[in-house]
Amino acid sequence: SRVVKLAVIPGDGIGPEVVAEAERVLEAVTVGGDVVFDKTHFSLGAARYLETGDTLTDEDLAAISAHDAILLGAVGGTPGDPRLKDANIERGLLLKLRFTLDHYVNLRPSKLYAGAPGPLAEPGDIDFVVVREGTEGPYVGNGGAIRTGTPHEIANETSVNTAFGVERVVRYAFELAARRRQKLTLVHKTNVLVNAGGMWKRIVDEVAQEHPEVVVDYLHVDAATIFMVTNPSRFDVIVTDNLFGDILTDLAGAVTGGIGLAASGNINPDGTFPSMFEPVHGSAPDIAGQQKADPTAAILSVALLLDHLGLRDESDRVTRAVEADIADRDGSRTTSQVGDAIIARLQA
Ligand code: NAD
Ligand code: IPM
Ligand code: MN
Repeated sequence: SRVVKLAVIPGDGIGPEVVAEAERVLEAVTVGGDVVFDKTHFSLGAARYLETGDTLTDEDLAAISAHDAILLGAVGGTPGDPRLKDANIERGLLLKLRFTLDHYVNLRPSKLYAGAPGPLAEPGDIDFVVVREGTEGPYVGNGGAIRTGTPHEIANETSVNTAFGVERVVRYAFELAARRRQKLTLVHKTNVLVNAGGMWKRIVDEVAQEHPEVVVDYLHVDAATIFMVTNPSRFDVIVTDNLFGDILTDLAGAVTGGIGLAASGNINPDGTFPSMFEPVHGSAPDIAGQQKADPTAAILSVALLLDHLGLRDESDRVTRAVEADIADRDGSRTTSQVGDAIIARLQA
């Protein structure tokens, strides 16, 4: 049988709670099949930092890289925790993984499932994918601060956009659109960010020549937030930079039933490094440890993981079980009750 080496990083807050359910679902959908998941758990995140002072050691990174794929819950402590003042778990762990493992496609699908508690009165059919660039933009860390704490402080984060980095993610987005409803929307802010925006627009126009079947659209990011609320069914594939994509995908989660349903994949399409699957949400310190978190986003991230590994049937079964569960939700359930219900659907 095929063995898949899976690194599991439960992380902080609700991360371990939702990952536990995701792992149970993975087990349930693969038990008795041809594929065996050989899992290694990594204790990483704010909790580990507070214990040992380590965020992500070279040994951790090497060990994680030796896996075929990664499942991550969420990392990050309670915002404002003074003990984490000198740590930056998000940069030092999450972004370090995304950058080192060259996760240049941050794939964030949004679909409004029947019965999902969306906030829109007339949502229409919502089914789009945000292809968020994952290794560049203002996230890179190209910046600095001087005169810190003085009235003349200067604090810069420079958005890094390379033709290489933009072209590869734009190509991925076009290929995805070609396989879907053949519509691609570039979201940027070309009216103000003329340098980066100009390059993004030009590269999209160039790659579009190779995909005459794909209808190309452009929206400024502020207007895109309007349409995501007033007419989200207009979107099929959205391609955008790292920061715009971060913001748009929390909104996308909100209009499709809540952040507790939003899954993502940090993909290295070249297959040089393991791809990493995680819910879009964070560690939710406000509800951590109370079995209140919805594990669905983590479970749908397992569906993305299975699909990435070519396990289409298993992936579809997980998605269908989630879909059936969402159609039938009522009352409040604990994290593990949601896991139980989805597993029961899988076995039905
Ligand atoms: P968050 O996503 O953790 O929480 C935002 C709101 O959504 C909270 O009210 C929370 O209770 C709710 N929520 C989130 N996930 C939920 C779920 N599965 N079920 C039900 N409700 C859910 O965002 P935040 O509060 O801005 O960030 C908290 C911490 O998480 C910070 O340290 C942040 O840096 C980190 N973070 C990590 C990741 C990640 O690991 N990928 C992503 C986002 C934020
Ligand atoms: C996300 C998160 C991360 C991001 C943070 C925690 C670095 O918000 O995965 O959406 O901004 O990418
Ligand atoms: Mn985010």
